[in-house]
Amino acid sequence: MSVLPIVTIPAEELRAKTRPVTKFDADLQKLIDDMIETMREANGVGLAAPQIGLPLKLAVIETLPEEDDDGNELEDTRDLYVIINPEIYWVARETTKGMEGCLSIPGYLGEVERAESIRVRGLDRHGRKFRMRLNDWDARIFQHEVDHLNGVLYIDKLTAPENIWTEEEFEKMREERQKARQQTEAHDPMVGD
Ligand code: CO
Repeated sequence: MSVLPIVTIPAEELRAKTRPVTKFDADLQKLIDDMIETMREANGVGLAAPQIGLPLKLAVIETLPEEDDDGNELEDTRDLYVIINPEIYWVARETTKGMEGCLSIPGYLGEVERAESIRVRGLDRHGRKFRMRLNDWDARIFQHEVDHLNGVLYIDKLTAPENIWTEEEFEKMREERQKARQQTEAHDPMVGD
């Protein structure tokens, strides 16, 4: 397996029209394995073919690990998906706002509103049909990756043009919010009872 170079904005490849995958041969299997390795090496939760410069309807996704009550990551709780020619054929009316990053937009996080639940169908790495319902964070990652296959980036969908931050700004905001919360808790005798 090998790690592939990831293209970043404003690369035209990220906006290109993609074509469906039709051949499920050894070359495709190698490409998928390389994409998985590239995603992991970059600490990403998803990688779409246009991000390595290929106009194909193919993406890999690896969900975040579950955590125990103390916030420790539980082993073997990440799920890996290979999605080919995917189609989101149902979206919930309920939406949720959340922060997203993208390996093709390094160093930034932006707020995007997404459907809370979706149903998606497509093909797996061997060309077998699948159908899935996804919720919350998993639904968000899938929507982000399917957008990539349509030349859409999260920066096209920010809740407001200014709702994008560098990782440093975001970290500072989070610390300040945490500090403010601790102060309120200190003045509220009910908390912690
Ligand atoms: Co992305």
